[in-house]
Amino acid sequence: MKAQVTFLPHGKQIEVRPGTTILAASRKARVQIRTRCGGKAGCLMCKVIVDDSACTGLAPMNQNERLKLGELAEQGYRLACQAQITGDVHATVPEDPLKAAVRRQLERQREEDDL
Ligand code: FES
Repeated sequence: MKAQVTFLPHGKQIEVRPGTTILAASRKARVQIRTRCGGKAGCLMCKVIVDDSACTGLAPMNQNERLKLGELAEQGYRLACQAQITGDVHATVPEDPLKAAVRRQLERQREEDDL
């Protein structure tokens, strides 16, 4: 039996075998999730937000993931490299901070040009 993973905001969907991590599923779906540690729960760059109603599609956090995430664990964040898929799940990939800064700057520029 396969599980369906939906990546937001892209809307890309992919089917994977249970036990696959969100990070592995993202690579298969060609959804970019930033990493630096190679999936060893060391860099915390692979954070994704998991829809509460779809949380049943993930295995419970292991102790390492819970320790690394701290308070973010209570806000729906999971480490894509650690979270194992057990069923259908929706994962929101936060915008890259650098891209977000550039986007905000461009929006400000556009607003100034419109004045
Ligand atoms: S890839 Fe580095 S913490 Fe997940």
